[in-house]
Amino acid sequence: MKGLIDIHCHILPDLDDGAKNMEEALKMLKMSYESGVSTIVATPHFHIGRVIAEYEKCNSALEKLKLAIEREKLDIEVLLGSEIYYTNDILKKVSNNEIHTLAASKYILLEFSPWDEYGKLLQAVNETYSSGYIPVLAHIERYACLHDNMKRVDELYERGALLQVNAKSVTGDNGRKNQRFIKKLMKNRAISFIASDGHDSINRVTSLNKCFQYVSKKYGGDTAEKIFCDNPRYIIENRQSPM
Ligand SMILES: [Fe+2]
Repeated sequence: MKGLIDIHCHILPDLDDGAKNMEEALKMLKMSYESGVSTIVATPHFHIGRVIAEYEKCNSALEKLKLAIEREKLDIEVLLGSEIYYTNDILKKVSNNEIHTLAASKYILLEFSPWDEYGKLLQAVNETYSSGYIPVLAHIERYACLHDNMKRVDELYERGALLQVNAKSVTGDNGRKNQRFIKKLMKNRAISFIASDGHDSINRVTSLNKCFQYVSKKYGGDTAEKIFCDNPRYIIENRQSPM
């Protein structure tokens, strides 16, 4: 399958704990391409107090990466985004154009601590929505407050949050507990996106084919196509999703 869209990937070199240099970024890109990915939204961390991918630095890292893509004749598109660690003042920075939204759309990728309380997630979703943005919650299998609590997952979804899980968690490569939780989410049709959250070419890889095949086999080709292609297209075309 070609045409997969990866909306969460740390492919931009030398900005965060993702690709450490251009050589590694190109390896990750080739891996993505060979696994059927046609478009990547690069999502370096914006985590105040930890690592901040500054707006302009992201732009210039992307320009350099695009030149390398041209040189290597790789048929893959890379767009800008960021993975935003949610804090109270973060939405102001988004609306001041200090932080990249996903592919310059109204969608933003939000991250939390695995131990954050549910109230914080709910508040983030409500505030994001009332600020005019659409919250995509990153790797929700990590958040302890949601495990074994489908009511909370449903509530987030009803409030307009779209949920993303990591490909390696779906296939069981991040432990059984995560996988069990994801199976429940899949059963409830709660997952809108599966992305790589790729950080390198060895451990936290960028390939999506193993997961795409797993989802196709277990939940059907239509579901896989929706999650890996159709839903992400709403983001890159900045259309309101019916997900
Ligand atoms: Fe990430």
